[in-house]
Amino acid sequence: PAPGWALDADVVVVGSGVAGLTAALRCEAAGLRTVVVTKARLDDGSTRWAQGGIAAALGEGDTPEQHLDDTLVAGAGLCDREAVRLLVTEGPDAVRRLIATGAHFDESTEGGLALTREGGHHRRRIAHAGGDATGAEISRALVEAVRARGVRTVENALVLDLLTDAEGRTAGVTLHVMGEGQHDGVGAVHAPAVVLATGGMGQVFSATTNPAVSTGDGVALALRAGAEVSDLEFVQFHPTVLFLGPDAEGQQPLVSEAVRGEGAHLVDADGARFMVGQHELAELAPRDIVAKGITRRMQEQGAEHMYLDARHFGAEMWENRFPTILAACRAHGIDPVTAPIPVAPAAHYASGGVRTDASGRTTVPGLYACGEVACTGVHGANRLASNSLLEGLVYAERIAAHIAAARAEGTLRPRVPAPLPRRDDPVHPLLPPESRTAIQRIMTQGAGVLRSADSLSRAARRLDDLHTEARDALHENGKTSEPGVDTWEATNLLCVARVLVAAAARREETRGCHWREDRADRDDTAWRRHIVVRLNPDRT
Ligand code: SIN
Repeated sequence: PAPGWALDADVVVVGSGVAGLTAALRCEAAGLRTVVVTKARLDDGSTRWAQGGIAAALGEGDTPEQHLDDTLVAGAGLCDREAVRLLVTEGPDAVRRLIATGAHFDESTEGGLALTREGGHHRRRIAHAGGDATGAEISRALVEAVRARGVRTVENALVLDLLTDAEGRTAGVTLHVMGEGQHDGVGAVHAPAVVLATGGMGQVFSATTNPAVSTGDGVALALRAGAEVSDLEFVQFHPTVLFLGPDAEGQQPLVSEAVRGEGAHLVDADGARFMVGQHELAELAPRDIVAKGITRRMQEQGAEHMYLDARHFGAEMWENRFPTILAACRAHGIDPVTAPIPVAPAAHYASGGVRTDASGRTTVPGLYACGEVACTGVHGANRLASNSLLEGLVYAERIAAHIAAARAEGTLRPRVPAPLPRRDDPVHPLLPPESRTAIQRIMTQGAGVLRSADSLSRAARRLDDLHTEARDALHENGKTSEPGVDTWEATNLLCVARVLVAAAARREETRGCHWREDRADRDDTAWRRHIVVRLNPDRT
């Protein structure tokens, strides 16, 4: 579709979580003309839902080196050491700048930051806010700062595609906007720098901790634009998500790792602590190990869930330290003060994404990525708990610095966009909205916490069928589905699901959060490497 309206900027930031808003604030502060576009409201997206906190070596006796060691262990041999080094050394100051921007973190009785523990951390290094409402506080502070600085924003704007010039350099993005008055319909922001900060793709599975907006839009855009994407097979399943029944779909309430960090125990239906003896850190082992421990015990007992027992916290601690989780449990008829909480793993975080370097640059000139959409190399095969808010902060700041330097060198110049790619084409036909549920079920059955060559090839075939049906409809009728947010989201979900399944089938080993029941061992000889994907623009 041809754009009906256009804005001009130096930088367009797509997404408004911790990564997007930090990038926007730092770009604006550097004097760059910045526009933030976001799919729903500025405070929608995953950041708002983050509970546990933000990890950084801020505590007495802690060091970036110890944080680095824990991150590398969790990443199971696939972290980029230099990317992690940047994260952990720049992290503490980045958190201090976030506090200076207006975020209020919980303090200890001695007056410093209160720090908790989560899986895979050998120290208390997770700063938190409002007890278990860290993301909501960060989001509040950043949204207020963006508004106070007068950064231009367009809400309800779903990004469609990257615009490039005749040399293939970034020239902006196209967007579909609804309900923004003068910006309704399909439009464009022209800018020589585009920062993707669109978050994750948890909605590719039936049950996820991610909000409804997490549909892989940034990864799909990057794939269509010919950028490299890496490590998509490493989907992290959070071990302790409130179990609301076997058929629960969509966003599910998280029960933060910090609950285990403060001493809660995982138990089976007989009350036995099954993580003890499986790992030196027991319930606080890295997330993949706990998710596997729970899944195994569920299989052994034929159970649909396990339990998290924190009755010993007592009412006062529950109310003060974990008010969000307490309210969510009670809203579903479970009182954690008097009963153990039913929990099961659910899709939580994409450790992979659009491949970037240390300045957040993707392989398309002028296109940057940060936050969950990016694969900077810090997470490897399994992200360490609470490193994601930190990664969003640190790499957003690095991107802003890089764009500001490009402007100072005179290389950040407006570019003339080449004609728009046709959007409803045989390569990426628009899917009907109801395909979303079909994709989620296919992915949950075939590419969930436990995978095999068979389950993955079944999933691949069924995803291909959805693609073929949409392409045939396009041939027969000249169009598929009415363009709109639902159809574009379903199309993006299919695009990322197919690449994820292909990568998971290719990786014939078990590593980090990629668990193959037919390839039970980690294979460092063949697989200590990344699966990098770049789509051929003319092929399905
Ligand atoms: C949690 O609070 O358990 C989530 C932390 C994270 O995903 O890093």
